[in-house]
Amino acid sequence: MLLMTDAEIRALARSGALANNAAQFAQPRGADLIRRTGPLEAWCALRAAHGVWQYARALEGPPQPLAEVREEGGRRAAGLNFASQDYLSLGAHPAVRDAAVRALRDAGPHSAGSAVLLGNSRQSLALEKALTCLLGHDHVTLFPTGWGAAFGAITALVHARDHVVIDQLAHASLRQGAAAATRNIAVHRHLDCSHVRDVLATIRSRDRENGILVVTEGLFSMDSDSPDLPLLQHVCHEYGATLLVDVAHDLGALGPNGAGIIGQQGMLGKVDIVLGAFSKTFAANGGFVASASHGLKRQLQLFAGPHLFSNALSPVQAAVVLECLRIVQSSEGAVLRTRLLSNVSELRSQLADAGLRCLGLPSAIVPVLLGSEPATRLAGKLLARAGVFVNPVEYPGVPLGRARLRLQLMSGHEMWQVRQAAQRIATCVRRIESALAVPPALEVQGG
Ligand SMILES: Cc1ncc(COP(=O)(O)O)c(C=O)c1O
Repeated sequence: MLLMTDAEIRALARSGALANNAAQFAQPRGADLIRRTGPLEAWCALRAAHGVWQYARALEGPPQPLAEVREEGGRRAAGLNFASQDYLSLGAHPAVRDAAVRALRDAGPHSAGSAVLLGNSRQSLALEKALTCLLGHDHVTLFPTGWGAAFGAITALVHARDHVVIDQLAHASLRQGAAAATRNIAVHRHLDCSHVRDVLATIRSRDRENGILVVTEGLFSMDSDSPDLPLLQHVCHEYGATLLVDVAHDLGALGPNGAGIIGQQGMLGKVDIVLGAFSKTFAANGGFVASASHGLKRQLQLFAGPHLFSNALSPVQAAVVLECLRIVQSSEGAVLRTRLLSNVSELRSQLADAGLRCLGLPSAIVPVLLGSEPATRLAGKLLARAGVFVNPVEYPGVPLGRARLRLQLMSGHEMWQVRQAAQRIATCVRRIESALAVPPALEVQGG
């Protein structure tokens, strides 16, 4: 395996490319909005020059387990791909590709308007209906992206006088939606229902007039863990609050019939509002919001900006998701989920045997916590050189000091690929530890 020598690693550390973090560049000073981006550009350029800028990479082909990746500067490498989101490998499924081709032929490549005007298609209406069946909610509204569904739902439902109570690790789309909707935002400790109860009690002790939206995820995208949804929904109703659960990462890939964490926890049709993204398991961009209320759908139609003021999901995207939904709920879908989970348990157990700390519970997301930003950057570089593509994640993706390698598995990964990746990750992390004397990347603790 091609790795760097200790001397090369230490020289890289001295170069400054492992220093600093994005938080330092978030709010630059100066009257010229464009010129003041200079320091950020210089920092990114330094990182790129030393091969520790692993962002904005491109795939040369489809997002499959073996992939060719082009870095921002043009350098290409081939290897094992654990950095794409296609959890059941449906992007490569012949029936899904056929569905895309049929829709392209029948309806053309794009939606020619907002969903509130003439942007819906036969395919998108059929998709809304199919989602109501999977989710057990009668009313579904589609969005051109999952991000738009999250931001649009919160900003359409919550006004300035209302409150949002949100998990501290909620996705940026949810946090930014909350920040755009109201200043009354309370952040609760991750997955902590008793903290939610305390926060709701405090809010209700002084405000019985306005709404409260409690926001969480079915499966947290950087930590691979889940809240207790029956308890959370119960607590919400105790205080007249509404629960919204983002199932972007679990719907389709986990749970009975692909019904995700909501299905696993017996909550189909019982969570107030469910929203999701198609981009992880359903091989297309797009998102949705589902509930039992037609009034809520009307509210989204008229007040959710990304639904109203953006062109609708295209017929090709809708047909792809529809076909993926069919597969997800079939016996083939169950086989794909079993394959995915056996890949996941093999990876987790190999990494744990090597003394690495994986966060959360088995899902397509395997977060390997390193903590240190320099170690994470360097691990991304060494792994890419060793032919294993992962996403090194640091602030703003995760809090400072909680940097990690995020691996995303697919049903299509072969067991040898999973084992080879685990072995290379362990070797790279050890290598970095000894060269940098980085603090406890290999601590053995529970998630
Ligand atoms: C929890 C969560 N919600 C929403 C989104 C946005 O979805 P999309 O990327 O499909 O717009 C993401 C994307 O990563 C996510 O992780």
